[in-house]
Amino acid sequence: EETHQRVQELAASLCALPPEFVRSEHDQPGATTYRGAAAPDAPVIDMSEPGFGARMAVAAREWGLFQVVNHGVPSAAVAELQRVGWDFFALPREEKERYAMDPASGKIEGYGTKLQRDLEGKKTWNDFFFQVVAPPEKVDHAVWPESLAVAGYREANEEYCRHMQRLTRQLFEHLSLGLGLHEGAMAEAFGGDGLVFLQKINFYPPCPQPELTLGVAPHTDMSTLTVLVPNEVQGLQVFKDDQWYDAKYVPDALIVHIGDQIEASIFSNGTYKAVLHRTTVNKEKTRMSWPVFVEPPGELVVGPHPKLVTDERPAKYKAKKYKDYQHCKINKLPM
Ligand code: SIN
Ligand code: FE2
Repeated sequence: EETHQRVQELAASLCALPPEFVRSEHDQPGATTYRGAAAPDAPVIDMSEPGFGARMAVAAREWGLFQVVNHGVPSAAVAELQRVGWDFFALPREEKERYAMDPASGKIEGYGTKLQRDLEGKKTWNDFFFQVVAPPEKVDHAVWPESLAVAGYREANEEYCRHMQRLTRQLFEHLSLGLGLHEGAMAEAFGGDGLVFLQKINFYPPCPQPELTLGVAPHTDMSTLTVLVPNEVQGLQVFKDDQWYDAKYVPDALIVHIGDQIEASIFSNGTYKAVLHRTTVNKEKTRMSWPVFVEPPGELVVGPHPKLVTDERPAKYKAKKYKDYQHCKINKLPM
C-alpha cells in the first residue's frame, strides 16, 4: 500500500523548506501581509451585550468574519476538544495511519494531508483530521479514534457538537434578523434538523521558513458558516480591501466565518460576504485549529431568498443543490 508523506513527519527532519512548499511571491505571507501602523482588527462581538445582533450583521457585511466572546460554550468543553485533538496527533505515525482517509475509495473522513498540489504545483504545511459529527444518521464511528487510542475522544466531540448546534441556531437567528427576515429564515433555508456538522482538526507543525509558505491557501469556505477554535499560536489571515490582515488571537473567542452558502446566499444574495482567508505557520510552535463547517444536506436546493430579490436587485446566484455546488467548486467548474 502507498504511504503518504505527512507534514508532521517532514517537519521533524528538516532545516530548510522543500521547494514544493515555497509559494510564489504574490502568495508568500512574508511579502504580502499588511504591516502598516493602522491595521484594522476583525470585529470582536460580545454576545452578552444588548444589541450585539446588529453589530454581528454589520461584521458579516463588511468583513465576512468576526470573533465572538461570551458565546456560552463552556471553556471546559473547548479545552477537552483541544486535548483529544492534540492527543490524536501525538499518537505514533502507524497508529494515526489506521484512521487515514482515502478519497479515491470514497473514504472522505479521517486523517489526511492535502495530496493534490494546487494550480501552481504547490503544497500546504498542514495535516488534518476530518469527521461528520451530526446529524446522527450521517455519523460513522468506525473512523473515530475512540477510547483505546484517545481516551474521551467521542465524548469530547459529541459534547462540543451540541454546543455548536445551539450556537449556530443563535447565529442564524441574528443573521436572519439582520437581513430583515424572520429569525427562523436561515435555519429553515439550510435544512433545519438536517444541517450537517463537520468537525476538522488542523495541525500545522513548526516550519523552518514560515514567511515563504502557507498552512492553508487562500479560499472561501463552501459552508453556510464555519465556527473555529484556534490554539494560542496566531496564524489566520483575512483579505479585506485588497490587503491581508492578521486575525489576532483573542483568548476564549470563537471565530465565525461567513461561507459561500450564506453569501450566495446564495441566500443573502450577496449582502453578507464569504470571507477570503488563509493561514500562516510558525517557526517554533505547532499551530492547531478546530473548525466546524455547518453545511446544508447535499440534496437541498440553496438559492437567493425570494424576499431579497427585487427588480432593482435581481438574483446574483443560481439556485442549486448543495452537492452540485460542492462538485463545481471542488472541480473548478463554472457555477
Ligand atoms: C481553514 O480555513 O481551513 C483553516 C483556518 C485556520 O486554521 O485558522
Ligand atoms: Fe477555511
